[in-house]
Amino acid sequence: MLNGKKVFLIIAGGIAAYKCLDLIRRLREQGASVRCCLTENAKEFVTPLSVSALSQGPVYTDQFSLKDESEMSHIELSRASDILVVAPATADVMAKMAAGLADQLATTLVLATDKPVLIAPAMNLRMWLHAATQANLATLMARGIHVVGPNEGPMACNEFGPGRMAEVPEIIAAIDGVLSPVQSLAGCHAIVTSGPTVEPIDPVRFIANRSSGKQGHAIAAALAAKGARVTLVSGPTALPDPVGVTTVSVETACEMLAACQSALPADIVVCAAAVADWGIKAAEQKLKKRPGGTPPVLELTLNPDILATLSAAGPNRPRLVVGFAAETEDLIAHARDKRSRKGCDWIVANDVSAETGTFGSDTNQVHLISAEACESWPSLDKRAVATRLADRIAEALS
Ligand code: CTP
Repeated sequence: MLNGKKVFLIIAGGIAAYKCLDLIRRLREQGASVRCCLTENAKEFVTPLSVSALSQGPVYTDQFSLKDESEMSHIELSRASDILVVAPATADVMAKMAAGLADQLATTLVLATDKPVLIAPAMNLRMWLHAATQANLATLMARGIHVVGPNEGPMACNEFGPGRMAEVPEIIAAIDGVLSPVQSLAGCHAIVTSGPTVEPIDPVRFIANRSSGKQGHAIAAALAAKGARVTLVSGPTALPDPVGVTTVSVETACEMLAACQSALPADIVVCAAAVADWGIKAAEQKLKKRPGGTPPVLELTLNPDILATLSAAGPNRPRLVVGFAAETEDLIAHARDKRSRKGCDWIVANDVSAETGTFGSDTNQVHLISAEACESWPSLDKRAVATRLADRIAEALS
């Protein structure tokens, strides 16, 4: 699979570093050559000697090594491979990468490279879930850095949750995916809606909802990774625009529909946005709170249903239209009903009741419902849900 590929492995200082010894062996079994760099902290977990013995080459650790620099400068080193893999990518290394620091050889190599970079995050679950780490992750992804894992499970610190480094076969599959991406959706145009819509009450106030846009943005990125041309129509979110995708920013449901319609024709539509069902007859001037006055009554207006409208687009109808069903009870029954009512081909159903914590979280447990079947997927990272869905879409269109 990776025959003749040159992998540069940067091992950072986390307990998962021990898995890198096996990673080096398995990469070499696949025919890849592996060069390694250890951070100072990584040397506390694995020794340069074992890394060198397994990779059968020098191990780089020192930014200012005269010997290494005279053989190959760190700039050349960062570019002489087909891919840079950072595993485990600790919270510290991710933060340094996001900030563009070059405080040691490992971070300098990542900053100096012109090759694709894949990170395999691994850390304690609280560190992974921390807003700082999540913001760094979003920054790195927006720069086109590839990410594999982390997985959920028991951790070395006796806690349970997301933060375990991806397993060696997953990292190898991810390296292969980066080096030989399957462009199974090349030539297709996909429209993806994402995020919330906001409906103005007056020039300063609005009604919105809790959608973070994480799932919709991840789907747009996953379809683009398969070679589709993607138009992402998104309500306001805190997320960076995904790389390789045309993002159209909108606010209201009516603007979202108009943006989708002007992006037609499309082969694929995925409506992942949490669209407000009702708009408001907005006041032209800021509503004033008069002393002793009664609160204003908001007059709601019915918003267009974007999913239903695009599903019924006549001769222009996309080949595959996928909707989401966010439900808090009777998930499958409501989702099946929604599929036939809205006329879409598939519905991705998820439980958004408060106890699931789906809104804003990184994981999602969904069911893929078509006319013929209902498939339940395990709880997955939203990026993994997106990749699976993109795989299914590619199969259906092939
Ligand atoms: N949707 C849409 N336009 C709307 C409302 C919803 O395109 N005006 C899409 C969503 O993007 C999603 C699907 O329809 O793909 C279902 O959204 P959901 O909020 O679950 O359903 P609703 O139609 O709002 O029905 P209800 O709130 O009654 O469950």
